[in-house]
Amino acid sequence: METIHVTTKSKEYDILIANGLLQQLGRIISQVWSKRKVLIITDTNVAPHYLRGVTEQIQSAGFSAASLTVPAGESSKSWQVLQQTITACAANQLSRTDGIIALGGGVIGDLAGLTASLWLRGISLIQIPTSLLAQVDSSVGGKTAIDIPSGKNLVGTFYQPDLVVIDPDTLTTLPSRVTVEGYGEVVKCAAMKGGIFWNLVQQVQNPADIPAHANELILHSIRFKADVVSQDEREGNLRRLLNFGHTIGHGIELAAHGRLFHGEAVAVGTFQICRQFERLGLTAPGTSDQVGRALQAVGLPLTDSLLGTPAMFAAMRHDKKVRKGRLTFVYLKQIGQPAFYPVDVTQLETWLQFDNNDGK
Ligand SMILES: NC(=O)c1ccc[n+]([C@@H]2O[C@H](COP(=O)([O-])OP(=O)(O)OC[C@H]3O[C@@H](n4cnc5c(N)ncnc54)[C@H](O)[C@@H]3O)[C@@H](O)[C@H]2O)c1
Repeated sequence: METIHVTTKSKEYDILIANGLLQQLGRIISQVWSKRKVLIITDTNVAPHYLRGVTEQIQSAGFSAASLTVPAGESSKSWQVLQQTITACAANQLSRTDGIIALGGGVIGDLAGLTASLWLRGISLIQIPTSLLAQVDSSVGGKTAIDIPSGKNLVGTFYQPDLVVIDPDTLTTLPSRVTVEGYGEVVKCAAMKGGIFWNLVQQVQNPADIPAHANELILHSIRFKADVVSQDEREGNLRRLLNFGHTIGHGIELAAHGRLFHGEAVAVGTFQICRQFERLGLTAPGTSDQVGRALQAVGLPLTDSLLGTPAMFAAMRHDKKVRKGRLTFVYLKQIGQPAFYPVDVTQLETWLQFDNNDGK
């Protein structure tokens, strides 16, 4: 088993990674939590595969367990579903010393994390991420959120869990497009880290290679993210590195109105920002081709018809990361060397150039 210890200003906790951890959950949780009442929050896709086993595990270790299953999908990051999770805390009379387990992908992690941070001003939380994206990214770092009509993730808290349990075996039930989407975040981190991590990504030549290398890919991604958030828990400066590829990515994701998955839009953004900085002479020649090959190997897109459209620029100008009229892009000087570059939002149309045949 791999253990990564995360230290932030607000808390220290472990992230455990190994196949079969869900079958040992009772023992594992007993090492972190005293006996208590536990509310498991999960979704309609994850529950049929894992809820029963997880419930039996924690009950067999002497915990009392209740559960709430919410509809799968981003729409559950809403006021309405948050009200349901809070109502479940009340109905189960969770006290300050009880806890919540988030069993699911990034949606459940964000929703259950927010619930845990709000109920009685904060009760304990364990994250059990079951999607690749949640295992490599969203379960680490303590960000929780729901969406509102004005934008995604606008209502949330920073709230660190007591433990993160990652069992890569859960990826066997994850739909392939969702696995590939999560892998886009892995390429993003590997390109910034370089070295062994980047070499590992070169071994992924098709989607079937992702589960085959899952443990190492998760381990390296989490080490990278944990390192960043340990130094910068609340997105002061360093944590902005994690926005690599996301600025253009968010623009086309919003403009695509659901046609592109988040990770697909970020893949386009990651490749295109490498192209842009290579044109400017700030990125080493050939870098965008390397990044493009890693993304294309699993079928992630590098370009999209929405690039350079008014809809994309409008969405970028409304990015919540705009500070004092400027968007800060993350770029690579070369693989393994990320850097920041601020651009005035009024200059975006003239500054960002796209070739129509990029990546085709
Ligand atoms: N908190 C953070 O730091 C952070 C970082 C990145 C993304 N996010 C958030 O994460 C969310 C995206 O995460 P996601 O891609 O995991 O989405 P998700 O939670 O919607 O999961 C994707 C789909 O896979 C299903 N699923 C999950 N695990 C499964 C399994 N093992 N077997 C079968 N089906 C499974 C889900 O039911 C869903 O249909 C977004 O809301 C995003 O804002 C948060």
